[in-house]
Amino acid sequence: MAPSLEARALTRRFGTYAAVDNLSLRVDGAKCVGFLGPNGAGKTTTLKMFTNLIFPTQGEAFVNGISVAEDRKRALSSCGALIETPEIYPSLTPREALELAGALRGMASADIRDRTRVVLEQVKMTEWSDQKVGKFSKGMKQRVNIAITLLSDPEVVLLDEPSTGLDPRGMAEVRSIIRGLKGEGRLVFFSSHILSEVVDVCDDVALLNRGKLLFYDTLANVTANLSGGATSVDASFVAPVGDVDVQGKIATLGDVASVSRLDERRLSVAIKGGPDARARVLKQLADLPFGLVGFHESRSALEEVYLREIQTGEA
Ligand SMILES: Nc1ncnc2c1ncn2[C@@H]1O[C@H](COP(=O)(O)OP(=O)(O)OP(=O)(O)O)[C@@H](O)[C@H]1O
Ligand SMILES: [Mg+2]
Repeated sequence: MAPSLEARALTRRFGTYAAVDNLSLRVDGAKCVGFLGPNGAGKTTTLKMFTNLIFPTQGEAFVNGISVAEDRKRALSSCGALIETPEIYPSLTPREALELAGALRGMASADIRDRTRVVLEQVKMTEWSDQKVGKFSKGMKQRVNIAITLLSDPEVVLLDEPSTGLDPRGMAEVRSIIRGLKGEGRLVFFSSHILSEVVDVCDDVALLNRGKLLFYDTLANVTANLSGGATSVDASFVAPVGDVDVQGKIATLGDVASVSRLDERRLSVAIKGGPDARARVLKQLADLPFGLVGFHESRSALEEVYLREIQTGEA
């Protein structure tokens, strides 16, 4: 059976404040979903309800179609979660930490041994299996935590900001682990503040703001809906381009949707169309007598959608 995760009108109030407000969402199959939202949006609270760490005030959570409230044990038997990263005892080795976790979950010794080998390999920690965790970098500790999460071979994997606090290499390693999980037929649902990471590994994106789900859709749909797919580049010039006439002239170039001034020598140029249109616009900009010295993509499409939706939510 394909893995699934579902929230039905899930609500959690703390006092009168609804940290999660009537959240309904259904994820089906082996895929990776990025769960986005500003600080305090209710992401961790949602993940905790999926894993029975806190009870919903209303509504229900399901893992693989099994209600967490009705049959906690069975629902969570196919679910692995890493929420609010626990500290591993510094004097334990990854192998010992995994043994302990397996024993606590009631796994058979042979099973623990086999899975330990697999998960340590999966998070690329095999060569560190018998070194004390206390000496590890933050990224290595996080990989051990992910290994612990995967020990019971869960079909549904929930991760709360798995790469927060890691350096770029640590983040890249976590991304590569997440991709691998999807490849193995698992459903990965992870919260993140790192939009580029979500763009990189996710099929779908959900955006939560003040407890409310603003959207849940494929990443492709979410970004394509953005102003007809226009993308912007920031272009820098040797000569001043702050003049309104210069901007007006650039705005009339083919494939250009609009132009705005960033500063005296930099413009943001919105381009109608995909990579081909962008290549044509850059060529035209380079041909202008202002000396194009550089350009880079403006905010990513997902970032535009994120900021716009969060702002609308505030209004
Ligand atoms: N145990 C609690 N008691 C009271 N309020 C809480 C509790 N846990 C969370 N909250 C509140 O619920 C809201 C949602 O918190 P939550 O931690 O789920 O947000 P989040 O999206 O995970 O944020 P972040 O991105 O900062 O991790 C916040 O306003 C928070 O203060
Ligand atoms: Mg959180």
